[in-house]
Order: sequence, then C-alpha cells, then structure tokens
Amino acid sequence: MDKIDVVLTAVSAIILLYILWCFIEPFFLDQDKAILEKSPADDSSADSISIKKLPMVQNGLKKDTDFRFVFFSDTHAEWCPVSSKRICESIRKAHVAEPLDAVIFGGDMCSYKQGAVKGFKYLNAVSSCCKELNIPFYGVSGNHDVYVSNIPEKAGFTSLDNTHLTLTSRKTGSKAVLTGLSDTGRKNRVWHKMPELEENEPVILIVHDPDALLHFTPSTRPEFMLSGHLHGGQMKFPFRIEFCVLRRHDKLPNMGAVQGVYNIGGTTVFISRGLGCGVMPFRFLSVPEVTVVGITL
Ligand SMILES: [Fe+2]
Repeated sequence: MDKIDVVLTAVSAIILLYILWCFIEPFFLDQDKAILEKSPADDSSADSISIKKLPMVQNGLKKDTDFRFVFFSDTHAEWCPVSSKRICESIRKAHVAEPLDAVIFGGDMCSYKQGAVKGFKYLNAVSSCCKELNIPFYGVSGNHDVYVSNIPEKAGFTSLDNTHLTLTSRKTGSKAVLTGLSDTGRKNRVWHKMPELEENEPVILIVHDPDALLHFTPSTRPEFMLSGHLHGGQMKFPFRIEFCVLRRHDKLPNMGAVQGVYNIGGTTVFISRGLGCGVMPFRFLSVPEVTVVGITL
C-alpha cells in the first residue's frame, strides 16, 4: 500500500464512521435540566437585540423553583427513534422526584401529513401518561403542523395557541400566565403579536419558532419563553454552516442562539434540540433532548 492508498482508506473510513454515527445519534436521548430565572429588563430593539448565553443550571441559583415542567418539542414522528415510552419514563421519573406543574409540547408533531397517524399515536401515549399522573398536558403548533387539522383534540393535549391561562404553582402557590402562539407555517408566515394580557403575573410564553421574540416590542416581551424548531442545528457543521446555508431564514440561530438557555432582550429563553428528525433521518452533534424546566419567578 503506498501513501496515497493509506490516506484514501483513512478518509473513506472517517466518512463511513461519520455516516454511521449520523444514523445512530437519533437513538440517544439527553434527559437534561434547565433552570430559568427572570432576566434584567432590556429595551434593545429587535435589530440590535442583546443575546447572552446562560448555563442550563446557573451556579448559586435557587434550586427550589416555582414551576416545574417537562418540555419536549419537534417529535417529527416519521423518524423519531426516541419512543414515547422513553418520554413517559422521563415524565414519571421527574414527577416522582418532585411534582410537575405541566408537561409541554413545543410543536412539529410530524413533518408531513403522511406522518399524522404516527404523530397522534406518539402524543396520545404521552397524554395517557399525563392523565394517569394527573399532570396537565399543554402544547402549541409548529410550522409543520399546518398540514394536519385538529392536532390538540386528536393528540390529547390542551392547545395554548393564541390563548392563555393562569397557572398556579403546585409547590409555592405562585401564579404565572401561561400563553402560546400558533405557528402559521413557512409559506404564509404571520408573526403573531403577544396576546394582550390583563393579569400582572409573570408571563411564560410557549412558541415553536424562537424568532417570534424578534417581532415583539421590548415592552411586550415575556419574562420567559420556551421554544423548539431549530433541532440544535440537527447536523452540526463548522462555522454554523447549517444555519448560514440551509436555514438562513432563521434569524436567531444566525445571531448565535441555537440551543439551551439565553437572555434575549430581557426574556429568559430555553430552546430545545427537539426529539425527532425533520426531513433527513440524521443528527450529528445534536442529541435528542427532553428537559425538566424549572422556572423561578
Ligand atoms: Fe421541527
């Protein structure tokens, strides 16, 4: 074997391993934890909005949170090797450790209409688990959900799309407004404004696409926001090429907010990597994620 053959063999082996790993990674599940605390007020405009990355759990932060949720997003049921059984196990485990106030789904049940049956089966299993444990199950629509009608009713969760409710903490009795915005899909995109709320309690917004935050005025930004949509990039490339080229219409990831916890313009934001695979059945350096989210008001 001469030098060139050795190099070619090594390169081929690396490419093969890379492809193999891309198929394997979607089977993993990161069951992590994020603790969100109120961020200082910030009146930066959408064009120059301040973005500060925060750790999932900050050192020295009060661990006793007012609200405790299990948040998962982007099941894309056509190719979601993380089974609903594993999500139910995560919910059960989290609830036994400390009662949950809600389980929340961040949208994109399936990628296309053809995946609806699988999607309903998945979310119905999560819904049954929530009913059994007496935990409310809420959700919002994602950009792919425009292809399927009546998802919340058929999937067994309460829709937060363009509506709100007052949530009382099971642990501390504190109150917060839980609200959500619907996603109108990529084709005929409408960015909804924040719902007008009379209540003075802190607001927890659930919205599929985190870019929604860029369409609010500084004074209407919520205190907290939980989102999905970005899949953590799904296939990570150097220099965030996946966002610059494939997802160049998504603004926040191109400004640096891709996954995890951030202070974005005074809103404490959590962006989930989601569970399934959209369009391509691969992931690379973006392990599927289900998260116990604690919120301190
Ligand atoms: Fe998605």
